[in-house]
Amino acid sequence: MRDPRSILITGASSGIGAALARAYAAPGATLHLSGRDAARTAAIAEACRALGAYADGRALDIADRATTAAWVEACDNAAPVDLVIANAGVSSATSGTAEGEVARRIIATNVDGVLNTVQPLIPRFRERRRGQVAIVSSLAAFRGYRGGAAYCASKAAVRAWGEGLRGDLAEYGVEVSVICPGFVTTRMTAGNAHPMPLLMSAERAACIIKTGLARDKARIAFPLPMYLGALLGIALPGWIIDRAQRRFPLKERD
Ligand SMILES: NC(=O)c1ccc[n+]([C@@H]2O[C@H](COP(=O)([O-])OP(=O)(O)OC[C@H]3O[C@@H](n4cnc5c(N)ncnc54)[C@H](OP(=O)(O)O)[C@@H]3O)[C@@H](O)[C@H]2O)c1
Repeated sequence: MRDPRSILITGASSGIGAALARAYAAPGATLHLSGRDAARTAAIAEACRALGAYADGRALDIADRATTAAWVEACDNAAPVDLVIANAGVSSATSGTAEGEVARRIIATNVDGVLNTVQPLIPRFRERRRGQVAIVSSLAAFRGYRGGAAYCASKAAVRAWGEGLRGDLAEYGVEVSVICPGFVTTRMTAGNAHPMPLLMSAERAACIIKTGLARDKARIAFPLPMYLGALLGIALPGWIIDRAQRRFPLKERD
């Protein structure tokens, strides 16, 4: 969609989501923003209002299906949503949960949270024969790696779900894109001690995502060399991956 006016973004209180909120903030735009942390969520809504948009911020846990559905429906009732960006997500570093619960928290947020955000809008988009769904996956979606088993699994699940949904909704004129970023400078990557090739700013990532969504790209995967590396990772035999990933750090404590 070239000019969405009412945009709902989860995980807008930080990183890529905050950069997307600022990228879409302009006079005439309505932004429905959510995050976990109330102060951070209020701050990004305020920043978007300063850029001329109407913006409201709501702190909630997207893993909570009923609360998320009620918020999404209320936003759509107030200003029918043109574009929903299901961006909120956690890694082992940002899951904020106890050892032994990390994998379940990652799946609850990154998989259930995406469904909880998008599903309430699907019948409404279908009926209006209009709407766009953006699902933030990752280049980590293409293969499971040591140190990120649950994270890779969660991103693979929503990538496949989004790709299927694109086919389901095409005949209703509803667009669906899956976003697969490489390394982006955010709170999620702040603690990474390992090399992060072609690391980019959240603002640059938001610009690439916004351009890809305006073109209704099925998959917005970037940067290209990292995307090609991810595709190569699918094709390589297991023994090569096993040998290579011995050097990857152990991160998940699940
Ligand atoms: N950074 C990267 O290199 C990278 C690469 C590929 C994909 N991604 C994906 O990009 C998305 C955004 O991540 P980011 O890098 O911008 O990380 P981030 O700075 O940690 O932002 C994550 C956002 O999700 C919110 N969130 C987390 N759990 C939530 C929950 N249960 N309920 C509601 N909101 C929740 C956070 O809220 P609070 O601020 O309130 O905690 C924050 O707004 C994620 O889906 C991530 O997996 C990131």
